[in-house]
Amino acid sequence: MKKIDIYVFSGTGNTMMCAKELEKNLTELGAEVAVRRIENGKEQVESVNDTIVVCYPVHGFNAPTNVINFCKNLPESTAEAYILKTSGEPLSINDDSSLKVVKSFKKKGYAYKGEFHFIMPYNMIFRHTDEMAAKMYQTAKKRMPIAAKVVLNGEEHIKKIPAKAKIVRGIVSIEHWGARFNGRFFKVDTDKCVKCMQCVKNCPMQNITYKDGKFKFGGDCLLCTRCSFNCPTDAFKIGIMEFMHVNGKYNFNADPEKAEIGKYCKKAYTEYFNEQ
Ligand SMILES: Cc1cc2nc3c(=O)[nH]c(=O)nc-3n(C[C@H](O)[C@H](O)[C@H](O)COP(=O)(O)O)c2cc1C
Repeated sequence: MKKIDIYVFSGTGNTMMCAKELEKNLTELGAEVAVRRIENGKEQVESVNDTIVVCYPVHGFNAPTNVINFCKNLPESTAEAYILKTSGEPLSINDDSSLKVVKSFKKKGYAYKGEFHFIMPYNMIFRHTDEMAAKMYQTAKKRMPIAAKVVLNGEEHIKKIPAKAKIVRGIVSIEHWGARFNGRFFKVDTDKCVKCMQCVKNCPMQNITYKDGKFKFGGDCLLCTRCSFNCPTDAFKIGIMEFMHVNGKYNFNADPEKAEIGKYCKKAYTEYFNEQ
């Protein structure tokens, strides 16, 4: 029986939903699977089983910093390695986001086999409709058995990366520094806030503290939006990125048949949904 370790960072749940789906499919195929969370990226992995799958949401055409750091700290191994990533739009400029993760795999001796990319609703930038969110999730679910078979059989699933993706990834990697800088300017509207403290408890970087009636934001923000997206009273302002703020969980049980692809990236979404 193949033993597979799935390590997941998920800011607002999308990537975890896909990772759980992969776990379900792999288990059905007879693999022994463990799903573990990546949070601040300092988690220590003692040893790796037959296969490792690292899962992350694309942030600014890159992998998030905590995921990059986590991979840098992986132990040396000859295990097979895959990536599962989610992003809000199906554009090929997201294709080079795994560069640093793949570099770490190769440096540590892993047999890098490729990646799977699933489109899930935006948790920042703008809000997809619930119907689109449901269609995205259903599409990921429909395709996951294929991904699971590839992982179980140790097959290659490497995508050719277009030059424009390399250029965009390089330029936008400033986002890592930008997220830390911008995070210091987060604000909580204390009139709206109900002091549930979910933001403080759930921040993956422990970057939010509350003392003497005031919230403080440190310099480690990933801009994962877990705090602002899940705030029950939408009390957050996310610095200069406020105009891209999205709040509130999607209803993934909405009717995917009623999803309408808007004008934004219409061709890319249509192609993604129609892919076999
Ligand atoms: C800071 C930030 C940057 C993002 N950058 C991209 C991007 O470059 N391309 C993209 O398609 N989606 C981007 N997204 C959208 C997320 O990748 C997408 O919503 C993902 O499914 C969120 O996964 P999670 O719920 O596991 O955090 C970004 C989201 C955030 C918060």
